[in-house]
Amino acid sequence: MAIQSTYGKDWGKKRSDVAQPSPPTAPDLLQATTTPDETSQNEEGLRPQTLADYIGQKDLKGVLDIAIAAAQGRQDPLDHTLFYGPPGLGKTTMALILAAEMGVNCKITAAPALERPRDITGLLVNLQKGDILFIDEIHRLNRITEELLYAAMEDFRLDITIGKGQSARTRSLSLPPFTIIGATTNMGALTAPLRDRFGLIQRLRFYDYEELTAIVTRTAALLNADITPPGAIAIAQRARGTPRIANRLLRRVRDYAQVKALGTITAPVATAALELLNVDPLGLDWTDRLVLKTMIEQFQGGPVGLEAIAAATGEDARTIEEVYEPYLLQMGLINRTPRGRTAAAAAYAHLGYSDPTGPTALP
Ligand code: ADE
Repeated sequence: MAIQSTYGKDWGKKRSDVAQPSPPTAPDLLQATTTPDETSQNEEGLRPQTLADYIGQKDLKGVLDIAIAAAQGRQDPLDHTLFYGPPGLGKTTMALILAAEMGVNCKITAAPALERPRDITGLLVNLQKGDILFIDEIHRLNRITEELLYAAMEDFRLDITIGKGQSARTRSLSLPPFTIIGATTNMGALTAPLRDRFGLIQRLRFYDYEELTAIVTRTAALLNADITPPGAIAIAQRARGTPRIANRLLRRVRDYAQVKALGTITAPVATAALELLNVDPLGLDWTDRLVLKTMIEQFQGGPVGLEAIAAATGEDARTIEEVYEPYLLQMGLINRTPRGRTAAAAAYAHLGYSDPTGPTALP
């Protein structure tokens, strides 16, 4: 199978290594988190497989290109690498591309699946020289697993305890040199000792409209969907800077075009479909708007703490922080201050409120 040879022999088996992420707390169209079902059915075939195919993240690609060439030149594994940034921006895709470019296997797991020490040791002892172990949501590792990783990352050594109680002994196994690629949506939650063991720490950024338009166009071609350039732009503009959301919206718009239009995704068809799906012109969904509305109506625009917003909206605080807030910040709709979050003038304007600090404000 072509994919197997591209990614190494574990690729075909990788589903069994994939931790099943817990379901998102508020699954909807604009959540950039993904369910296992979606991943296995859809996303895999759409992922770019080389750095050259990967659209966007220009600076990151430049850094990785050099890291790959240098490691290959020295016949070393890649340095341990940490990717951070909001969900859906391509952290897993980038790890798979690094494995493909290095010609090594990539095993994929996520921290919540590494509950017992034997979960991580089982993965580590099966690695071959140069292999990549991708750990998603790495900020959620438990303490014991994290401590096992320290020696594994630093000295390629695994300290395991055999037996229990007084007869327990520790054994040290040496591991072949390998690479950990960690991914996190919450860099602040990573402990300093773990963060310090990564040689390369890189942030993934939101994509601009042009990049998202190119991604939508590429995906449409892979899905055999008929789309006009303005149709691709219309989807890109409402995709919150996130390829995973762009591709998800594209599928929904394709359904709409098939059922309600003549099959071609034009700009008016895309706009009508996205309106129906409650995705507004800035790409905000119902929850984004609820967060902004709550800040404005219940907290007079803030400053307000994350927990208070979570309680008032009924959303999970971590979901607000990791999924919703980054895009609202990026769009200048909210600000983070030492005293809490505030709604920006742009949020008032977008939702049709008069800005209390603006020229029309009452004294
Ligand atoms: N599909 C999803 N993300 C992509 C990217 N960055 N480049 C190309 N295709 C993609």
